[in-house]
Amino acid sequence: MIQITAKLASKLKSCNSVCVLTGAGISAESGVPTFRGPEGLWSKFKPEELANVQAFLANPALVWEWYRYRKTLLKNVSPNPAHIALVKMEKHFKDFTLVTQNVDNLHARAGSHKVLCLHGNIDKNYCMTCAKDFNDANLAQTTVPKCDCGGLVRPGVVWFGESLPTQTFEEAESAARRSQLFLCIGTSAVVYPAASLPLIAKECGSYVVEINPEVTELSAIADESIFEKAGVALPQLVDIIPKN
Ligand code: APR
Repeated sequence: MIQITAKLASKLKSCNSVCVLTGAGISAESGVPTFRGPEGLWSKFKPEELANVQAFLANPALVWEWYRYRKTLLKNVSPNPAHIALVKMEKHFKDFTLVTQNVDNLHARAGSHKVLCLHGNIDKNYCMTCAKDFNDANLAQTTVPKCDCGGLVRPGVVWFGESLPTQTFEEAESAARRSQLFLCIGTSAVVYPAASLPLIAKECGSYVVEINPEVTELSAIADESIFEKAGVALPQLVDIIPKN
Protein backbone atom coordinates (compact mmCIF):
# COMPACT_ATOMS: atom_id res chain seq x y z
CA MET A 1 0.00 0.00 0.00
CA ILE A 2 1.24 3.53 -0.75
CA GLN A 3 1.34 6.21 1.95
CA ILE A 4 -1.28 8.85 1.12
CA THR A 5 -1.02 12.04 3.18
CA ALA A 6 -4.07 13.55 4.85
CA LYS A 7 -3.61 16.59 2.58
CA LEU A 8 -3.81 14.51 -0.61
CA ALA A 9 -6.74 12.48 0.74
CA SER A 10 -8.58 15.71 1.54
CA LYS A 11 -7.87 17.06 -1.98
CA LEU A 12 -9.16 13.85 -3.58
CA LYS A 13 -12.33 14.10 -1.49
CA SER A 14 -13.03 17.79 -1.91
CA CYS A 15 -11.56 19.06 -5.20
CA ASN A 16 -13.69 20.04 -8.18
CA SER A 17 -10.90 20.91 -10.60
CA VAL A 18 -8.16 18.36 -11.35
CA CYS A 19 -5.52 18.39 -14.11
CA VAL A 20 -3.36 15.38 -14.95
CA LEU A 21 -0.19 15.32 -17.08
CA THR A 22 1.07 11.91 -18.19
CA GLY A 23 4.29 10.80 -19.83
CA ALA A 24 5.75 7.57 -21.19
CA GLY A 25 5.97 6.07 -17.69
CA ILE A 26 2.20 5.56 -17.46
CA SER A 27 2.42 3.19 -20.44
CA ALA A 28 5.51 1.34 -19.15
CA GLU A 29 3.37 -1.30 -17.39
CA SER A 30 1.63 -1.93 -20.71
CA GLY A 31 5.02 -2.92 -22.14
CA VAL A 32 5.65 0.33 -24.03
CA PRO A 33 9.30 1.43 -23.72
CA THR A 34 9.92 4.87 -22.21
CA PHE A 35 12.39 7.29 -23.80
CA ARG A 36 14.99 8.00 -21.13
CA GLY A 37 16.58 5.84 -18.48
CA PRO A 38 18.59 2.62 -18.91
CA GLU A 39 16.12 0.74 -21.14
CA GLY A 40 14.70 3.85 -22.81
CA LEU A 41 14.30 4.21 -26.57
CA TRP A 42 16.81 7.05 -26.63
CA SER A 43 19.45 4.69 -25.23
CA LYS A 44 19.09 2.55 -28.40
CA PHE A 45 18.11 5.09 -31.07
CA LYS A 46 19.19 8.69 -31.70
CA PRO A 47 16.28 11.17 -31.48
CA GLU A 48 18.22 13.58 -33.70
CA GLU A 49 18.16 10.93 -36.47
CA LEU A 50 14.52 9.93 -36.00
CA ALA A 51 12.37 12.55 -34.36
CA ASN A 52 12.86 15.83 -36.21
CA VAL A 53 11.79 17.12 -39.61
CA GLN A 54 15.35 17.54 -40.93
CA ALA A 55 16.09 13.87 -40.19
CA PHE A 56 12.85 12.90 -41.90
CA LEU A 57 13.61 14.88 -45.07
CA ALA A 58 17.18 13.52 -45.10
CA ASN A 59 16.13 9.89 -44.68
CA PRO A 60 12.35 9.36 -44.80
CA ALA A 61 12.76 5.59 -45.21
CA LEU A 62 14.68 5.27 -41.91
CA VAL A 63 12.16 7.43 -40.02
CA TRP A 64 9.21 5.49 -41.48
CA GLU A 65 10.92 2.23 -40.49
CA TRP A 66 11.16 3.56 -36.89
CA TYR A 67 7.51 4.64 -36.79
CA ARG A 68 6.27 1.40 -38.36
CA TYR A 69 8.23 -0.45 -35.60
CA ARG A 70 6.51 1.67 -32.94
CA LYS A 71 3.05 1.38 -34.57
CA THR A 72 3.43 -2.42 -34.68
CA LEU A 73 4.59 -2.54 -31.05
CA LEU A 74 1.55 -0.49 -29.97
CA LYS A 75 -0.88 -2.80 -31.79
CA ASN A 76 0.19 -5.55 -29.39
CA VAL A 77 -0.22 -3.73 -26.07
CA SER A 78 -3.23 -2.75 -23.95
CA PRO A 79 -4.09 -0.06 -21.41
CA ASN A 80 -2.93 -0.92 -17.87
CA PRO A 81 -4.54 -0.28 -14.42
CA ALA A 82 -3.08 3.24 -14.41
CA HIS A 83 -4.97 4.20 -17.59
CA ILE A 84 -8.12 2.57 -16.22
CA ALA A 85 -7.80 4.47 -12.93
CA LEU A 86 -7.76 7.78 -14.82
CA VAL A 87 -10.95 6.78 -16.66
CA LYS A 88 -12.61 6.30 -13.24
CA MET A 89 -11.18 9.62 -11.97
CA GLU A 90 -12.62 11.45 -14.99
CA LYS A 91 -16.11 10.43 -13.85
CA HIS A 92 -15.70 11.80 -10.32
CA PHE A 93 -14.45 15.34 -10.77
CA LYS A 94 -16.61 18.11 -12.23
CA ASP A 95 -13.63 19.64 -14.01
CA PHE A 96 -11.14 16.93 -15.00
CA THR A 97 -8.54 17.47 -17.74
CA LEU A 98 -6.18 14.74 -18.91
CA VAL A 99 -3.13 16.03 -20.78
CA THR A 100 -0.67 13.56 -22.27
CA GLN A 101 2.75 13.72 -23.92
CA ASN A 102 2.22 10.18 -25.18
CA VAL A 103 1.30 9.42 -28.78
CA ASP A 104 0.28 5.81 -28.02
CA ASN A 105 -3.49 6.44 -27.83
CA LEU A 106 -3.72 4.20 -24.73
CA HIS A 107 -5.76 6.74 -22.73
CA ALA A 108 -8.44 6.84 -25.44
CA ARG A 109 -8.32 3.05 -25.79
CA ALA A 110 -8.81 2.76 -22.01
CA GLY A 111 -11.97 4.89 -22.26
CA SER A 112 -10.82 8.40 -21.33
CA HIS A 113 -13.13 10.76 -23.23
CA LYS A 114 -11.26 14.05 -23.33
CA VAL A 115 -7.51 13.67 -23.82
CA LEU A 116 -5.32 16.62 -24.78
CA CYS A 117 -2.53 15.06 -26.87
CA LEU A 118 0.30 17.59 -26.77
CA HIS A 119 2.66 15.56 -28.99
CA GLY A 120 0.15 14.20 -31.50
CA ASN A 121 -1.04 10.66 -32.15
CA ILE A 122 0.99 7.86 -33.76
CA ASP A 123 -2.16 6.45 -35.39
CA LYS A 124 -2.44 9.62 -37.49
CA ASN A 125 -0.39 10.66 -40.53
CA TYR A 126 -0.59 13.61 -42.95
CA CYS A 127 0.79 14.93 -46.23
CA MET A 128 3.51 17.55 -45.77
CA THR A 129 2.39 19.33 -48.96
CA CYS A 130 -1.43 19.42 -48.84
CA ALA A 131 -2.00 18.35 -45.19
CA LYS A 132 -4.37 15.55 -46.26
CA ASP A 133 -4.92 13.13 -43.36
CA PHE A 134 -4.09 9.43 -43.70
CA ASN A 135 -4.93 6.76 -41.15
CA ASP A 136 -2.79 3.63 -41.10
CA ALA A 137 -5.38 1.72 -43.16
CA ASN A 138 -5.20 4.08 -46.15
CA LEU A 139 -1.46 4.62 -45.91
CA ALA A 140 0.41 3.40 -49.00
CA GLN A 141 2.47 0.37 -47.94
CA THR A 142 5.49 1.64 -49.88
CA THR A 143 8.69 2.27 -47.89
CA VAL A 144 7.96 6.00 -47.93
CA PRO A 145 4.22 6.67 -48.32
CA LYS A 146 3.32 9.44 -50.77
CA CYS A 147 0.12 11.45 -51.12
CA ASP A 148 -1.83 11.47 -54.39
CA CYS A 149 -0.69 15.12 -54.68
CA GLY A 150 2.88 13.79 -54.80
CA GLY A 151 3.76 15.09 -51.34
CA LEU A 152 5.59 13.11 -48.61
CA VAL A 153 3.31 11.62 -45.95
CA ARG A 154 4.66 11.91 -42.37
CA PRO A 155 3.59 10.53 -38.97
CA GLY A 156 1.14 12.80 -37.12
CA VAL A 157 3.41 13.35 -34.12
CA VAL A 158 5.17 16.52 -32.91
CA TRP A 159 8.93 16.25 -33.50
CA PHE A 160 11.71 17.98 -31.61
CA GLY A 161 11.92 21.63 -32.66
CA GLU A 162 8.28 21.73 -33.76
CA SER A 163 5.50 23.71 -32.08
CA LEU A 164 2.78 21.95 -30.14
CA PRO A 165 -0.81 22.30 -31.42
CA THR A 166 -1.61 25.82 -30.16
CA GLN A 167 -5.20 25.35 -29.06
CA THR A 168 -4.43 22.04 -27.37
CA PHE A 169 -1.62 23.57 -25.33
CA GLU A 170 -3.72 26.63 -24.45
CA GLU A 171 -6.46 24.33 -23.14
CA ALA A 172 -3.90 22.37 -21.14
CA GLU A 173 -2.36 25.52 -19.69
CA SER A 174 -5.79 26.88 -18.71
CA ALA A 175 -6.64 23.58 -16.98
CA ALA A 176 -3.33 23.69 -15.09
CA ARG A 177 -3.99 27.28 -13.98
CA ARG A 178 -7.48 26.56 -12.60
CA SER A 179 -6.67 23.17 -11.07
CA GLN A 180 -6.85 22.60 -7.33
CA LEU A 181 -4.98 19.29 -7.71
CA PHE A 182 -2.36 18.56 -10.40
CA LEU A 183 -1.12 14.97 -10.87
CA CYS A 184 2.13 14.59 -12.81
CA ILE A 185 2.47 10.92 -13.75
CA GLY A 186 5.29 9.00 -15.43
CA THR A 187 7.28 11.83 -16.92
CA SER A 188 10.91 12.89 -16.50
CA ALA A 189 9.58 16.47 -16.76
CA VAL A 190 12.49 17.61 -18.97
CA VAL A 191 10.71 18.35 -22.27
CA TYR A 192 9.12 21.80 -22.60
CA PRO A 193 6.62 23.29 -22.93
CA ALA A 194 4.78 20.22 -21.52
CA ALA A 195 7.02 20.25 -18.44
CA SER A 196 5.98 23.85 -17.69
CA LEU A 197 2.43 22.73 -16.85
CA PRO A 198 3.11 21.46 -13.29
CA LEU A 199 5.15 24.61 -12.61
CA ILE A 200 2.28 26.82 -13.81
CA ALA A 201 -0.16 24.83 -11.67
CA LYS A 202 2.08 25.24 -8.62
CA GLU A 203 2.41 29.01 -9.21
CA CYS A 204 -1.38 29.25 -9.37
CA GLY A 205 -1.83 27.52 -6.03
CA SER A 206 -2.60 23.98 -7.17
CA TYR A 207 -1.48 21.02 -5.02
CA VAL A 208 1.09 19.29 -7.24
CA VAL A 209 1.62 15.55 -6.78
CA GLU A 210 4.17 13.53 -8.74
CA ILE A 211 3.80 9.77 -9.31
CA ASN A 212 7.05 8.21 -10.49
CA PRO A 213 9.30 5.46 -9.09
CA GLU A 214 12.31 7.77 -9.69
CA VAL A 215 13.28 11.27 -8.58
CA THR A 216 12.82 13.76 -11.44
CA GLU A 217 13.38 17.46 -12.19
CA LEU A 218 9.95 18.07 -10.67
CA SER A 219 10.49 16.23 -7.38
CA ALA A 220 12.00 19.25 -5.59
CA ILE A 221 9.08 21.46 -6.61
CA ALA A 222 6.15 19.08 -6.18
CA ASP A 223 4.10 19.34 -2.98
CA GLU A 224 4.22 15.55 -2.75
CA SER A 225 6.01 12.73 -4.57
CA ILE A 226 4.68 9.17 -4.59
CA PHE A 227 7.68 7.02 -5.52
CA GLU A 228 5.67 4.17 -6.93
CA LYS A 229 4.60 2.76 -10.30
CA ALA A 230 1.51 4.44 -11.72
CA GLY A 231 -0.29 1.11 -12.09
CA VAL A 232 0.13 0.52 -8.35
CA ALA A 233 -0.45 4.06 -7.02
CA LEU A 234 -3.36 5.34 -9.14
CA PRO A 235 -5.90 2.61 -8.30
CA GLN A 236 -5.23 3.32 -4.60
CA LEU A 237 -5.85 7.04 -5.12
CA VAL A 238 -9.13 6.24 -6.90
CA ASP A 239 -10.21 4.10 -3.94
CA ILE A 240 -10.07 7.21 -1.71
CA ILE A 241 -12.41 9.24 -3.91
CA PRO A 242 -15.97 9.18 -2.50
CA LYS A 243 -18.29 7.14 -4.71
CA ASN A 244 -21.11 9.53 -5.51
N1 APR B 1 5.00 4.40 -13.45
C1 APR B 1 5.28 5.72 -13.37
N2 APR B 1 6.40 6.28 -13.91
C2 APR B 1 7.26 5.43 -14.52
C3 APR B 1 7.02 4.05 -14.64
C4 APR B 1 5.84 3.53 -14.06
N3 APR B 1 5.55 2.22 -14.10
N4 APR B 1 8.09 3.50 -15.30
C5 APR B 1 8.93 4.52 -15.61
N5 APR B 1 8.44 5.67 -15.13
C6 APR B 1 9.00 7.02 -15.24
C7 APR B 1 10.50 7.09 -15.37
O1 APR B 1 11.11 7.09 -14.09
C8 APR B 1 10.68 8.43 -16.09
O2 APR B 1 10.82 9.49 -15.16
O3 APR B 1 8.50 7.58 -16.44
C9 APR B 1 9.38 8.62 -16.86
C10 APR B 1 9.54 8.52 -18.37
O4 APR B 1 10.35 9.60 -18.77
P1 APR B 1 10.75 9.74 -20.32
O5 APR B 1 11.20 8.41 -20.82
O6 APR B 1 11.66 10.90 -20.41
O7 APR B 1 9.37 10.04 -21.05
P2 APR B 1 8.58 11.42 -21.09
O8 APR B 1 8.79 12.20 -19.85
O9 APR B 1 7.18 11.09 -21.45
O10 APR B 1 9.27 12.16 -22.33
C11 APR B 1 8.69 13.39 -22.73
O11 APR B 1 10.17 13.38 -24.65
O12 APR B 1 11.17 12.08 -26.27
C12 APR B 1 10.16 13.02 -26.04
O13 APR B 1 8.17 13.31 -27.23
C13 APR B 1 8.81 12.43 -26.36
O14 APR B 1 6.71 12.75 -25.18
C14 APR B 1 8.09 12.42 -25.01
C15 APR B 1 8.82 13.50 -24.23
